[in-house]
Amino acid sequence: MEKREKYSLLSKQIESLLAGEKDVVAAMANVAALIHETFGFWWTGFYRVAYNSSNSSNSPLKAVPELILGPFQGPVACMHIGYGKGVCGTAWKERRTIVVPDVEQFPGHIACSSESRSEIVVPVIQRDRVVAVLDIDSRELGTFDDTDREWLEKIVTFLPDFALRDAEHYHEIYLAAGCFWGAEKYLKLIEGVTFTEVGFANGNTENPTYKEVYTDQTGYAETVHLRYDPRVVSLRFLLQMYFKAIDPTSLNKQGEDEGTRYRTGIYYIDPSDRPIIDEVIAEEAKKYGLPLQVEVEPLRNFYPADEYHQDYLDKNPSGYCHLPVALFELARNAKEGK
Ligand code: SME
Repeated sequence: MEKREKYSLLSKQIESLLAGEKDVVAAMANVAALIHETFGFWWTGFYRVAYNSSNSSNSPLKAVPELILGPFQGPVACMHIGYGKGVCGTAWKERRTIVVPDVEQFPGHIACSSESRSEIVVPVIQRDRVVAVLDIDSRELGTFDDTDREWLEKIVTFLPDFALRDAEHYHEIYLAAGCFWGAEKYLKLIEGVTFTEVGFANGNTENPTYKEVYTDQTGYAETVHLRYDPRVVSLRFLLQMYFKAIDPTSLNKQGEDEGTRYRTGIYYIDPSDRPIIDEVIAEEAKKYGLPLQVEVEPLRNFYPADEYHQDYLDKNPSGYCHLPVALFELARNAKEGK
């Protein structure tokens, strides 16, 4: 049977096998087994994008995500692969399938086994982000081509939604939008935001106090740390809402509040958030004839502010707020896709 016909049958088989299946581990296990059996490859399996809980340090930051070995068929393989590393980490970073006809010709290829000669890595993209990769290795050179790419890209769309079960996959983002009292009140009203706290991000001192940050000498920005449920709200939508509450053309000034501590900024932990952030910024930039002043950086550090500042406007409803009241109504009623 020709490769195309084999894939056509395999794809139908996988689609019906996975219909209604909600468990991603069970699904990945059987997809790997079916592909492996059908073609007799050397190694067929998945790496999930996940947080490695064993390397979290004392830093206030959660460990960064990496590719962690998932269900597979074949010999023992490496368990952790970093963002942008090897063929798998490159497919994650570049969000595209990578076909490697000769692994020795791929700079940075990670040799889990010296038997592997050629390879294909297909990213599993859900809700705009890479949640896993499917990696297949062959003992012969030049095994994979566009036919494999097309069919395997189709097959991975049958996998269940990772966000429905993967608790490790909760999402967070840090947004600086001027005075954090109003910014927190606004952002926490958006449906899908599950947690907020205010604090200081990306500065240069240890354990800054509000008073120190207020001197504008510490490099910190008043920032809201958000967690959100990706089943309810996407990062893209959250960022679009964020832009409604800031003047992105204003440098170090929002409302009447001035200083580097009031700068606007988007600070991310997950490097795969970056392309989404860049896309939203490019869309917003088109609306203004001026360059945007919103800083975009990986989160370097974050220190929560004192309890006094947390949920400040809930505790002090008539307290100072740089945002107009109408914005809170907007956030309360905002629904993605409407
Ligand atoms: N070769 C892969 C590593 C995974 S093993 O092949 C199973 C890479 O370079 O990403």
